[in-house]
Amino acid sequence: MSTNRTFAIGITGASGAVYAMRTMAALLERGCHLEVVISEYGRRLLHDELGERAAVNRLRDYLVETYGDAASQGSFTIFGNKDLGAPIASGSHECEAMAIVPCSMKTLAGVAHGLSRNLVERAADVMLKEKRRLVIVPRETPMSLPQLRNMVQCAEAGATILPAMPAFYQMPKTLADLADFMAGKILSALGVSHELYPKWEG
Ligand SMILES: Cc1cc2nc3c(=O)[nH]c(=O)nc-3n(C[C@H](O)[C@H](O)[C@H](O)COP(=O)(O)O)c2cc1C
Repeated sequence: MSTNRTFAIGITGASGAVYAMRTMAALLERGCHLEVVISEYGRRLLHDELGERAAVNRLRDYLVETYGDAASQGSFTIFGNKDLGAPIASGSHECEAMAIVPCSMKTLAGVAHGLSRNLVERAADVMLKEKRRLVIVPRETPMSLPQLRNMVQCAEAGATILPAMPAFYQMPKTLADLADFMAGKILSALGVSHELYPKWEG
C-alpha cells in the first residue's frame, strides 16, 4: 500500500524513544515515505532506552521485528543531522509535514529561535516558513520559564505542541498501549487517520 505521502521525522535526545518508533511504524504501516533525522543524543536515547536492536543502522529490522510486517509497507531514508543539503532542508522539496518526537528542550529552543544549526532545526524552520504542519513532542519535567516560553513561541509560529503526556482513561495495560496513544495523537496532528486507540464515546 503506497499513499505517496511524505513526512519528516526528527528524533532528538529527550526520553521517549518508543514514541518515535511507534510513530514511524504507524506511518510506515500506512504506506508513507519518511525522511528521518536523528540527532547525536537521539541515537544515544534509542540505544539507552530500546537497546542494541534499535541501533540506527538496524532500524528497519527493529521496526518489522517489533511492530510486524505491516511496518515494511512504507519506506524511509535516514539523513545525517549535519547534512544541511538534504532535501528536507529546502522549502521546494515536497514533504507534507514534520514531527519532532521526542523533542529535547535544546532542539525546542533552536526551533523557537529559528537557529537552523542542524537538519532537525532547519527542516522544522522550513515547515514553519512554508506554513506546513510541524508537530513538536517535548518531554521534560518540571519545565523552566524559558522552556515554557519557547513552546509558546513555537505555537505562535504555527507549530502544534503535543507534549509526551499519555492519558490513562483508555485503561492502558502495557507500555505499548501508552506508545500507541501518543503515536495516535501525533498521527492525528499530522493529518493521518488511524485506529491506534479507541475514540472516546463518553
Ligand atoms: C539518558 C538521557 C535522557 C535525557 N532526557 C532528556 C529529556 O527528557 N528532555 C530533554 O530536554 N533533554 C534530555 N536529555 C538531554 C539532551 O539529550 C541534551 O540536552 C542534548 O544536548 C539534546 O540534544 P539534541 O536536541 O540535539 O538531541 C537527556 C539526555 C540523556 C543522556
